[in-house]
Amino acid sequence: MTDLVKTELIDGIRVVTINRPEKKNALTQAMYAVMADAVAGADEDPEVRAVVITGTEDIFTSGNDLNDFLQASVDDAETPVWRFLRAIATTTTPLLAAVNGAGIGIGTTMLLHCDFVYASPGARFHMPFINLALVPEAASSLLLPRCAGYRKAAELLMLGEPFDANEAVAAGVVTAIAPAKGELEMAMDTARKLAAKPPSALRQTKALLRGDDQSVRERLEAEGAEFKVCLSSPEAKEAMTAFFERRPPDFSKFT
Ligand code: COA
Repeated sequence: MTDLVKTELIDGIRVVTINRPEKKNALTQAMYAVMADAVAGADEDPEVRAVVITGTEDIFTSGNDLNDFLQASVDDAETPVWRFLRAIATTTTPLLAAVNGAGIGIGTTMLLHCDFVYASPGARFHMPFINLALVPEAASSLLLPRCAGYRKAAELLMLGEPFDANEAVAAGVVTAIAPAKGELEMAMDTARKLAAKPPSALRQTKALLRGDDQSVRERLEAEGAEFKVCLSSPEAKEAMTAFFERRPPDFSKFT
């Protein structure tokens, strides 16, 4: 099971690889648990100077496993997904991502917590929460307007349409576009530079840049409360059932 997320230590950099390509790297609770431990554990381990999250050849992650959403089993404050969200929101270790293919749902929102994000030229991003009758998560309703501005955030979260790597750079979601297949190398180069910096001053710099983490924690909670209500709604059930039945959802019967 743990092979679905691989973790390795390379030159003081913890590389976390999401590895469930047959399901487009959809994240189950067991996978979130490994990722949460990898990120939170980095803060306790002086050997780890940076964390890099990446996916497999064609896909970063298709987001939360929709089966979990159908079972509405992701709402408890102590579930692995919550531990992961708190870990990425509060880690003091430099956090990087190398996005190779599509990053959907949390595959995009987790990037807002990263200090550096590198994407392949063909990477695609999507926060389809509204299309699934859900609300934004991972404090994206706070962090996206901060980096992209309200207008762009409203477009991306209220219309829920996918966007490409150039748009992601313009929105401040991605640091830079790497040459084809070069995103992990670019992330590792930056991680190595960070690993050579004085660690205490680097942690302080990150904390100052991130600013008030209380508002992020509060937004995580507020979104989580709404998300929980949405998950059990008939609209959300229709949206997710439609995905597995490979048909468009029909929201016409809902008022
Ligand atoms: N949860 C559960 N299973 C998922 C999944 C997810 N988020 N994303 C993909 N899968 C599964 C599919 O059900 C399919 O399983 P099967 O082979 O047993 O039928 C397999 O992964 C391959 O997916 P498929 O849709 O056939 O691949 P594709 O190349 O046509 O499309 C995506 C890829 C990522 C665009 C598409 O799978 C997708 O839109 N996934 C859902 C994304 C989403 O809404 N995530 C939630 C965000 S909040």
